[in-house]
Amino acid sequence: MKILFLDQSGKLGGAELCLADIAQQFQSNSLVGVFAEGAFPDYLRKRHIPVKILTDQPLQVQKASGLLAGLKSLNRLIPLITQVTHLSKQYDLIYANTQKALVVGAIASILSRRPLVYHLHDIVSPEHFSATNRRIIITLANRAALVIANSQASRDAFMKAGGRGDRVHVVYNGFRPEDYGPYVDKREYFRKDLLSTPQIVDQPPSFVVGHFSRLSPWKGQHVLIDALQYCPDNVIALLVGDALFGEQDYVQQLYQQIKTLNLEHRVRFFGFRSDIPQLMAACDLVAHTSTAPEPFGRVIVEAMLCGTPVVAAAAGGAAELIDHGQTGWLTPPGNAQKLADIINICQSYPSQSKVCAQQAQIQARQRFDLEGINLNIKSLLSGVVKTHY
Ligand code: UDP
Ligand code: GLC
Repeated sequence: MKILFLDQSGKLGGAELCLADIAQQFQSNSLVGVFAEGAFPDYLRKRHIPVKILTDQPLQVQKASGLLAGLKSLNRLIPLITQVTHLSKQYDLIYANTQKALVVGAIASILSRRPLVYHLHDIVSPEHFSATNRRIIITLANRAALVIANSQASRDAFMKAGGRGDRVHVVYNGFRPEDYGPYVDKREYFRKDLLSTPQIVDQPPSFVVGHFSRLSPWKGQHVLIDALQYCPDNVIALLVGDALFGEQDYVQQLYQQIKTLNLEHRVRFFGFRSDIPQLMAACDLVAHTSTAPEPFGRVIVEAMLCGTPVVAAAAGGAAELIDHGQTGWLTPPGNAQKLADIINICQSYPSQSKVCAQQAQIQARQRFDLEGINLNIKSLLSGVVKTHY
């Protein structure tokens, strides 16, 4: 099967990491068309996945943009669509992985008569998208032969917004369990590195809560910082991730919040890192704190695979990943006090929380195994190709 994958982002976000794992199995005769140069195409090249940068002029439309911004970007969109239409004639299907890729891919699919597949990584709701963008996504996605939703929550929101349910299949992100350890044995070694910052004093031994998300208001790093106020002094937070989409105001707000609460000695920023499993293994707890429903939440599964206890905000796909009290904990989104309660329980009862983490690891290895998930995707795509030709 020859597939033309399309993704708008040059950045390495969860949707791109997921796509790389899917595209890898088709690497001998497929292509990933990306709308910007950056860490994502670099990541694909390192993995020997063929990649082509389709434009050097980024499309300016944002998730919250209205019709006007969309129309203004037409001068950039038309050459891109022409190029993708031409390119797609060499492939059996077009696989759009993001919204702008859907716009380009859907029009190209009509012109080149190639079937369209849309991988839905988002919750199509007013919290995430403007009304115009929701309408565009639904109208175009309803033309797709197949929509792969990354969670039931994403599927439900899609249908609530007017998406056709008959072509939607829920397929969770897959992971290679072996990529996530075992690093627990090396915990002390990694921990030294984690805590090597002048203002963090590891006496008495710190309880380390890791947060592994891009810095963005809806990812809710501020909720974790707030929660620290209700935890003992030796609970510290590590914020791993960067402001991938230019959310510098939010980063400044976080620094200000830390200063106001006198928490400089208890919060450390790491920026973007490529050694997530090692860092997670060195944490006592991983916190996921999104304030809007998380479509899936790769970091939650990654923490489970590392054998590190995880607490997540109970909304969207995150609530499907954790069985509260059995494989982790769920707290109400945006509630710092309830998050602090769970942090304090984990600190006070380490052996119980370890049992929970072990159960989560066993379950995650089965439920999110990349090999099985890739087979599922391959069979869905074969069905599309068979029906179309
Ligand atoms: N990630 C990373 N380095 C960082 C922060 C995050 O590689 O410094 C990875 C993380 O391990 C996860 C992905 O980025 O695989 C984020 O995916 P998720 O689904 O959690 O959220 P998204 O940012 O896609 O909404
Ligand atoms: C998107 C979503 C995230 C999800 C990822 C992979 O980036 O924001 O929740 O885990 O896609 O499907």
